[in-house]
Amino acid sequence: MSGSERIPRDEMLVASTWLVFAVASVWATRWDSYYIERELLVCQISGYMTLGFLAVSLLSTPVVRILGWCGVAVEPAFTARWGRNTGIASGLAAILHALLSITVYLDNHWMLALTMPYLRSGLLGLGVFLLLLSASIKPLAKRVGWRVWAPLYRLSFVAALFALHHLLYAPFASRSWTLILYGIGAGLSLIRLIPKRSTPRVAETVPRS
Ligand code: HEM
Repeated sequence: MSGSERIPRDEMLVASTWLVFAVASVWATRWDSYYIERELLVCQISGYMTLGFLAVSLLSTPVVRILGWCGVAVEPAFTARWGRNTGIASGLAAILHALLSITVYLDNHWMLALTMPYLRSGLLGLGVFLLLLSASIKPLAKRVGWRVWAPLYRLSFVAALFALHHLLYAPFASRSWTLILYGIGAGLSLIRLIPKRSTPRVAETVPRS
């Protein structure tokens, strides 16, 4: 592989983090845990992996704004790539989580996923992810263009809301922690609404001779 084709470090970081958590989730199907049932542990590792990547994806813009206020400049192209890659990682984690939850926790009782409200909201979140993942396939993303992709990307917030319902009603999830973490996420998201300071144009900054 030539130097120009080398995979960027941030993409390697996302891919390797994804892999570590995916292996841990699958491995957990064989662990003997003392404090928690193995089936639940599998759901929790893969579920929090999905949620973690989703949070990193949705909060990358506000975090970059905060870094900017601290004098750390981040390239817009990097932010866009990071947000897209962590979003894809979250979608792929949701597929893994759904498959593990249905086969391990629900013992292959697929129909249960349609009958229990917290599982239905999980499925709706997964549906949003599948839509976003298919729109992220490169040739398709190029064809639909940024004008269609930008509003589609906002659907990730809808996936986060379905996940909120899923967690609030999941029998073993902590409601208080869910609300605290979502509150922090919502607070950070509001930073997006603060108007950006416009940078002075070059012509205005160069003194006339
Ligand atoms: C947006 C997609 C999803 C996200 C972000 C998500 C996230 C999570 C998280 C974080 C947990 C751990 C809760 C705990 O602390 O116990 C969890 C549990 C679980 N999830 Fe999901 N999930 C999603 C979709 C699904 C789908 C599609 C299914 C299956 C149809 C599913 C089935 C389960 C089950 C069975 C549990 C264990 C119940 C429990 O922890 O109380 N999830 N999910």
